[in-house]
Amino acid sequence: MNRNRIGIFDSGLGGLTVLSEVARLLSAERTIYLGDTARVPYGIKSSDTVIRYALEDAAFLQSHKVKLIVIACNTASANAEEVLKKVLDVPVVGVIEPGARAAVAATRTGRIGIIGTTATIRSGAYTRAITEVNPEAKTFTSACPLFVPLAEEGWSTGEITEKIAEKYLESLQEADIDTLVLGCTHYPLLKETIASVMGPDVTLIDSATATANEVARVLKEEGLENIPDNSNDTPDTNDAASSNGDNGDTHEFHVTDSPESFVTVGARFLSGRGVHLHRASLAHLESKA
Ligand code: DGL
Repeated sequence: MNRNRIGIFDSGLGGLTVLSEVARLLSAERTIYLGDTARVPYGIKSSDTVIRYALEDAAFLQSHKVKLIVIACNTASANAEEVLKKVLDVPVVGVIEPGARAAVAATRTGRIGIIGTTATIRSGAYTRAITEVNPEAKTFTSACPLFVPLAEEGWSTGEITEKIAEKYLESLQEADIDTLVLGCTHYPLLKETIASVMGPDVTLIDSATATANEVARVLKEEGLENIPDNSNDTPDTNDAASSNGDNGDTHEFHVTDSPESFVTVGARFLSGRGVHLHRASLAHLESKA
């Protein structure tokens, strides 16, 4: 049993899709979220840069004594998961493998589309993960970089978003896929538009649920679950929640730029999902440059 928080990071607000699933599935757990909003998007950057950013994000979460780190970003998972698993002394859960397994479970024809940022598609991580589970599967990819700023701006639907989606998804429609992996944690924010362009015969895979299940599995396996016992145990005193006098907050949010705009768009997105986002703090990351 461990009462420390689960650390979750993303380049911006996309990782909130994973956070809301973790919160739904693991209601006894407390979390700390870092959105690196000053440096979003990661998806157009080189692999070396993404690895450096991911190490800094993880170091920030570790300074808050987290018990497990979730890389709630496909770009960072695709490029930095291996490195993070090597250097960190807490378990690390990425989003690619859970998403790949969910896609293989969902497909009937074995024709699976993958959309993601340029850096995720370039890494080939999804194709590798999918063909590892099912070597017969055929994958088709399309990078959709503009989806990220649209999600960050809160432009989930509407004519402009639809036109961009039609252009990005054209080759996947032609490839006759039956399953489409939303290989970027920002894309579930645009789910409605993507679904309307792809039509009802294509199953959309959002790795958030599968990732939350994996977090639950790892916590159990490692004996790190928070089992509520109504005692007066206080969490680690280095924990940010206790040090800023905010013990009541189950979910804590930090961003590297403008907390106000993050709270506005993030709260809109999380509304009705049982997670309250009413405040975010400005985080200062230790640069490894
Ligand atoms: N949400 C991130 C992902 O899952 C990346 C968005 C970005 O920073 O480009 O890939």
